[in-house]
Amino acid sequence: MGRLDGKVAVVTGAARGQGRAHAVALAEEGATIVALDILDSLRSPLHKGSTAEDMAETVRLVEKEDQRILAVKADARDLNALTALADQAMAEFGRIDVVVVNHGIWAISENAWETDEEDWQESIDVLLTGAWKVTKAFIPKIIEGGLGGSVILTSSAMGIKAQPSSVAYTVAKHGVLGLMKTLAWEAGRHNIRANAILPGMVDTQMLQGGTIEKSSEWQPRFFTLDRSLLPDGLIPPDGVSRAVVFLASDESAFITGAALPVDAGWTTF
Ligand SMILES: NC(=O)c1ccc[n+]([C@@H]2O[C@H](COP(=O)([O-])OP(=O)(O)OC[C@H]3O[C@@H](n4cnc5c(N)ncnc54)[C@H](O)[C@@H]3O)[C@@H](O)[C@H]2O)c1
Repeated sequence: MGRLDGKVAVVTGAARGQGRAHAVALAEEGATIVALDILDSLRSPLHKGSTAEDMAETVRLVEKEDQRILAVKADARDLNALTALADQAMAEFGRIDVVVVNHGIWAISENAWETDEEDWQESIDVLLTGAWKVTKAFIPKIIEGGLGGSVILTSSAMGIKAQPSSVAYTVAKHGVLGLMKTLAWEAGRHNIRANAILPGMVDTQMLQGGTIEKSSEWQPRFFTLDRSLLPDGLIPPDGVSRAVVFLASDESAFITGAALPVDAGWTTF
């Protein structure tokens, strides 16, 4: 018996990386999956977006767990698309219990004052406003079900620390914690919990396109620090999924408003 048998979980940015790992881990525990991803690249030349082939692999892996999946191409900035997907998910599956707001981009610039205005705006729109729009579209469906639920927002170690060379990312991820705490207050009376995870260095595409190398060149004092308290500080995506499954399940029934580091100790620095 799975810890999420009969539940329906939405995962944004589900085509690859942590989002795919979360979708598969939630499915392994019995959840039906609603997966969305932009399946496109945005402005950053170093951090490319996912593809339709990536999403097809997520679908294959969830179906391998004998779970149903509704997978769509949608932009977390597009409230109409999110609302339409929420309606479609309710029509197909009849309920929504879990929302994992995971999608993300990482744009860098050497200093805050040199950040391109459009890069700033895109990061805030995707990482912060997009996170709010996902909750705006899906939380009413959880309320409608009357059974309570769990919202899990992916912030970052950069949600509580500065990351030089990533001002908009840092600001947006701090903002996500404000969103999470407000939701915990407001949705709590519907027995909907809201929590955040703060991943450290996770082995995904976000770190693989040259962003780390460029950032290290610009900000060596920050990036040459080894911030892991464990022998291996580079976290596999499914290592983060274990925390997501915990926060989605009844094991965390009395945890709301929490920001859980999954960072090999990075945020102790
Ligand atoms: N990798 C890390 O070290 C790390 C550390 C801390 C936090 N995070 C956060 O973890 C989350 C997952 O990132 P990841 O590491 O799996 O990277 P990733 O680049 O592999 O995955 C991000 C996914 O989000 C999708 N996406 C981007 N913009 C979108 C939009 N507007 N609408 C819908 N989907 C969109 C991308 O297409 C991609 O599939 C992000 O929120 C990221 O900021 C990552």
